[in-house]
Amino acid sequence: MPRSAVGILGIGAAVPEKVLTNADLEKIVDTSDEWITTRTGIKERRIAEEAEAASHFAVRAASKAIEDAGLMPEDIDMIICATVTPDMPFPATACLVQDRLGIKNVPAFDLSAGCSGFTYALAVGTQMAQGDYEHVLVIGVDILSRITDYSDRSTCVLFGDGAGAAVLGPVPEGYGVLAVDLGADGSGAEHLQLPAGGSLRPPSLKTISQREQYIKMAGREVFKFAVRVMESSTKTVLEKAGISAQDVSWFVPHQANIRIIESAANRLSVPMERFVVNVDRYGNTSSGSIGIALDELARSGSLSDGDYVVLVGFGAGLAWASALLRWYERGENRG
Ligand code: COA
Repeated sequence: MPRSAVGILGIGAAVPEKVLTNADLEKIVDTSDEWITTRTGIKERRIAEEAEAASHFAVRAASKAIEDAGLMPEDIDMIICATVTPDMPFPATACLVQDRLGIKNVPAFDLSAGCSGFTYALAVGTQMAQGDYEHVLVIGVDILSRITDYSDRSTCVLFGDGAGAAVLGPVPEGYGVLAVDLGADGSGAEHLQLPAGGSLRPPSLKTISQREQYIKMAGREVFKFAVRVMESSTKTVLEKAGISAQDVSWFVPHQANIRIIESAANRLSVPMERFVVNVDRYGNTSSGSIGIALDELARSGSLSDGDYVVLVGFGAGLAWASALLRWYERGENRG
């Protein structure tokens, strides 16, 4: 159990203006709206403009989260940015965000945990906020359109761009992050990867000609893994806190595929109405997804003080992460 209660004080999200619909994709690859909708639940996704990078959306989401928390940028004591598409391999995107928000002399670092990134960062940030850092800004952001192969119909229909952010800080006892479950199984790493651009296969004419700068995925393997860990990781956080799935008001799953979410709901015997779904409008935004979905939930007015909320993510690693929160509603700025 946490030494002192830490929870979400404010939340924000930012997505690009530009919409890429299934009809648009029908013009690019051999696919159909009908195939994409029935296999994934996705209707459209947001795509960043050429001049926009991860930091742009991270800054926007973070600014909203800080305002929502009723704080000023100078109140932030640490920045953790989860991303697999940083502006550059280094410096950390968290440092770029820090500078643009005018935050001085606080630790800022990136965290790579694929689509589990936001929840991983939330778990790490919670520990930090229980220690020396009162207010921790946690961001999940990805610009997957930059690493998506728009000639590969099996992946290009899935991904989109966006950011979610949360400010963590002290909340009354009994509220906030009650339990987390983090895990990874590197033996499945090959199922979801960006082969080139790192130290193993630095960018070269050869890697580019082989299109290795784009996401490679074994869809069925990832699907099976996702369904399994959504159930097991959710059950683990609930058991840790002694809460039953029936007591949970909202499940905020990683938005990868409606069929994965439906399978999890089925396995947990929870009605779909308690799962937040926006994959139809944004596709899979990786580290951005859970923060964006939680922000929509909070702003919809459907979250009440004291509600139990489960965040559950899965993805590259293969890694997974869940968190059980008891929602603390400050309420002053939301809406
Ligand atoms: N449009 C039309 N047909 C497509 C297509 C597309 N966009 N993409 C693949 N297909 C075809 C395949 O070529 C295959 O054709 P074939 O049977 O003639 O070979 C057929 O559809 C079935 O492909 P398959 O890969 O078995 O489909 P699927 O039901 O497994 O669905 C995914 C594919 C990618 C939607 C699904 O596996 C999935 O969502 N996996 C998880 C991916 C994920 O969430 N990744 C991120 C995790 S963070």
